[in-house]
Amino acid sequence: MGTGQSIPVFVERFGRRPELQAKAPGRVNILGEHTDYNEGFVFPVAIDRHLSVLAAPRSDSLVRAYSIDFRQEAAFRLDDVRRSEEAPWSNYLRGVLSQYLERGDRIAGMDVVVSGNVPVGAGLSSSAAFEVAVAEAVRVLNGIQIDKVEMALLCQAAEASFVGVHCGIMDQFVSVLAQEDSALFLDCRDLSYSMVPLPDGIRVVACDSRVQRRLDASAYNQRRAECAAAVDGLKPVLGAITALRDVTPDTLRRNRERLPEVVYRRARHVVAENERVLRGIELLRNGDSEGFGSLLYESHESLRSDYEVSCPELDTLVESARRAPGTLGARMTGAGFGGCTVNLVRSHSVPAFVEFVRREFRSKTGGECEVHVCRPSAGVGFERIAREE
Ligand code: GLA
Repeated sequence: MGTGQSIPVFVERFGRRPELQAKAPGRVNILGEHTDYNEGFVFPVAIDRHLSVLAAPRSDSLVRAYSIDFRQEAAFRLDDVRRSEEAPWSNYLRGVLSQYLERGDRIAGMDVVVSGNVPVGAGLSSSAAFEVAVAEAVRVLNGIQIDKVEMALLCQAAEASFVGVHCGIMDQFVSVLAQEDSALFLDCRDLSYSMVPLPDGIRVVACDSRVQRRLDASAYNQRRAECAAAVDGLKPVLGAITALRDVTPDTLRRNRERLPEVVYRRARHVVAENERVLRGIELLRNGDSEGFGSLLYESHESLRSDYEVSCPELDTLVESARRAPGTLGARMTGAGFGGCTVNLVRSHSVPAFVEFVRREFRSKTGGECEVHVCRPSAGVGFERIAREE
C-alpha cells in the first residue's frame, strides 16, 4: 500500500497527519545462503517491494502503532518495552526501540502506521524491512547519530532479542545499504561490501511457493548450532579458526572423520557456498552470466541435500525453471523450509518463463505459485510529509 492510501488511515486513527514516511525494501538473496552467520559471503539484492512506516512524534513516552495488514493496534510506554504475545508483529518495532534505548539514545513517544507490499512469510525479508523502516523513522524523528552499518547491526540485534531468531546480518544490511540497479557483495566477517551490477537484459524473478515459510527459531538456530559444532570439531586440527569461513573444501574433506555425518554435510554446504559466491562475482565481472547462473543450480542442490532446508515445492519450482524459456539459473532463496526461489531470467523471456513455471507448478503440486518480477532497488530512505495535501 502506498503513502497515498495509508495517510488517511493515520489521520483517522490519530487525529493528525504523520510527519514522515520511512520506507525500507525487502530482499532476494541471489547467492550465498546460510553463509552470513558463518562469517562468509553473501550476494543479495534489495527489491522494489517495501515496508512503510508513517510516524509522528508525541510529547509523552507512549508509542501507538497500527498495522494496516494485521488490522491491529499495539500500545506501550518507552519505560516498559516488553515482548507482546497478542501482537507479535509489533515485536520488531519494540525490539528496535529497545535497542536504541540500550544505546542511551533519547527517544520521544510516537504514533505509527505500518503497511507494506513485501509478502509476509515468503522469505523476502519483510521482517528486516520492517525493523529497518522503524530504525530510520526513529533516527530521523529523534535526531539520532548512527551510521548505516550500525543501524543494520542494531536491527539484527533487535530480531535476536525480541523475536528470538539469531539471524545473520544479510537481510538488515542490504535493506539499509543497497543501491539501485546493483546487487550487494558483502563480506559478513568485516562487513566490507561492494556493489556489483547485474548483467544487462537479465531480470531477477522470485517465485513464491506459498508454502508458509516457518523461520521458527528452532530449525534455523539448529543449523547455526551445527555449524558451530563443525568449527569446534575442526579446531583441534586447524588451530585458531573462529568460523566455517576459515575452512577450505580441501581441508574439510581431509578431516571428514572428525565430524558427525550431519555436521559434516552442513559444513560442506557452507564451505562450498562461500567458494561459489567468490567464483560467481568473478564470473559476473568477466561477463559470464551463464556460468554465474549454473552456480545457482549448484547452490540449490547443496541446500537441498547437504543443508536440508528445501522442500518438495521449492524443488519443483527449481526443476520447472530449469526447463523454462530464458532461465540462467534458479535456486531456493532465504532461510528455506518454504518461501521463494530466485531465478535469473533473460528479460525478453520473462512472460514465457512465468507462464511455463506457473503451469508446471500447478500440474505437479496442484497449487498456485506467485511470481514477483523484481527491480534491484535502493536501501532505506525517508520523506517528510507536507502539512496539507
Ligand atoms: C534468513 C536470515 C539471514 C540468513 C538467511 C539464510 O534470511 O535472516 O540472516 O541467514 O536466512 O541465508
